[in-house]
Amino acid sequence: MTPSHPLTPVATLRSQARKHLEHGAVTAGYSADRSQVLRLLNEALATEIVCVLRYRRHHFMARGIHGQSVGAEFLAHSVEEQGHADLLAARIVQLGGEPDFSPDSLSERSHAEYVAGDTLTEMIRENLVAERIAIDSYRDMIQYLGDQDPTTSVLLKQILAVEEEHADELADLLEGMNS
Ligand SMILES: [Fe+2]
Ligand SMILES: [Fe+2]
Repeated sequence: MTPSHPLTPVATLRSQARKHLEHGAVTAGYSADRSQVLRLLNEALATEIVCVLRYRRHHFMARGIHGQSVGAEFLAHSVEEQGHADLLAARIVQLGGEPDFSPDSLSERSHAEYVAGDTLTEMIRENLVAERIAIDSYRDMIQYLGDQDPTTSVLLKQILAVEEEHADELADLLEGMNS
């Protein structure tokens, strides 16, 4: 069997590692388009921050007979979205970029929208829409990366799995509202 990718000789690995130490974790073997990856990660970061804010608002505004339980779920999601934002920001820095936390351009850069929502049902629906946007955009990014940046891919897959859980929970809540 011929290997699909030849292994780099140890001497080459050693000499490459000594060059450009200032690039830290970004080595000669990094084959993805770094500036494009940084742009995508910053868009994902903006999306997560908008989700943190939307869920936070909905947590405080949840009213009615299901208000407390659904509101608690919104808060839990908000905290998890903040965790995603932090993971993305850390990866951006590891790749030699800068995480963009600027509030001015946040909603333009975000894939998901900030919709305040009036009723509890509307809030659940809007959050579900946002989760479904996040799911498709993370899946897109994972497919774009292929095997060019395994660490970023693993991170995005971890986040994607949680967004799928969120969407599933919201779909259950929405069904509970209609029954
Ligand atoms: Fe998230
Ligand atoms: Fe989510």
